[in-house]
Amino acid sequence: MSNALHTSELHSLPLLARGKVRDNYAVGKDRILMVASDRISAYDVIMNEPIPGKGELLTQMALFWFDKLGPNGLNICPNHLTGEDPSNVVSVDERSQVLNRSMVVKRLKPLPIEAVVRGYLAGSGWSEYKLGQNVCGVALPPHLKNASKLAEPIFTPAAKAEMGEHDENITFQQVVNTVGIETAEKVRDYSIKLYLAARDIAAKSGIIIADTKFEFGLDADGTIILMDEILTPDSSRYWPAEQYKEGSNPPSFDKQYLRDWLETVRINGAPWSKTPPAPTLPDEVIQKTSEKYREAWARLSTV
Ligand SMILES: Nc1ncnc2c1ncn2[C@@H]1O[C@H](COP(=O)(O)OP(=O)(O)OP(=O)(O)O)[C@@H](O)[C@H]1O
Ligand SMILES: [Mg+2]
Repeated sequence: MSNALHTSELHSLPLLARGKVRDNYAVGKDRILMVASDRISAYDVIMNEPIPGKGELLTQMALFWFDKLGPNGLNICPNHLTGEDPSNVVSVDERSQVLNRSMVVKRLKPLPIEAVVRGYLAGSGWSEYKLGQNVCGVALPPHLKNASKLAEPIFTPAAKAEMGEHDENITFQQVVNTVGIETAEKVRDYSIKLYLAARDIAAKSGIIIADTKFEFGLDADGTIILMDEILTPDSSRYWPAEQYKEGSNPPSFDKQYLRDWLETVRINGAPWSKTPPAPTLPDEVIQKTSEKYREAWARLSTV
């Protein structure tokens, strides 16, 4: 596993943007080199310490899923991969920065929607359900518990927040108002199909994918294309199947360990405000978090 990389610094390509995790560089006019750094964010705040191996693991997992669900696999919808080798689009001395952690993708016009699918009730879905027995306007049966499995997966979109803001849950009608009925329906149908297929594949490795978030973009012809990372523990809730218990939060393979630790932090006697600056992560938290990602991939890659 390569050394931890908090921020990539490529000079051979123009930098387009740094997200919470990825650094995006322009490759010509129509492609992007997405470099997954080892940064980790929690509550939308980027931590100062990188998590060794994270960018590499996330990239391998996303590529695994693109392979299973894309044109060479179940062929559910088109995706943004170009298949180009990232090493070939940077200068030779920069190759170590992109090795195993990058993808060359088609540059798309992102839809301003996070396409969330939930197969289980957790996180903000569970919070919303408790308030009004629905999530994003989707009515649900009574007496569901935290982590309950839903009879059918539901599409619970969110509006993509500006940098530094939190995403906001919205109704399907609001998606229709933003992108039009045809696109909204297509995005919803693709998302549900992708989730169902992934859920079945992950189940074979003892992983429950409780929920996940997809992003889509439009190419120059207006075709809807699956983009970003997919089905990683950063964009999804991964639960170990053998520890699943309705009514309680399963110990997940994602950032939950970090989030739980952050809840215990005291700064001058007060809880951390969940705004920058982030507290300094102890080595143990860095190592444990790194292990969680590794464990998720160790399970998944056996399928
Ligand atoms: N094919 C693509 N074309 C254009 N943009 C893309 C493509 N794939 C992914 N992106 C964008 O690249 C960024 C990935 O970076 P990252 O995941 O670190 O960002 P983020 O912090 O999740 O998102 P944000 O941009 O909201 O801060 C996202 O903004 C995503 O929408
Ligand atoms: Mg992202």
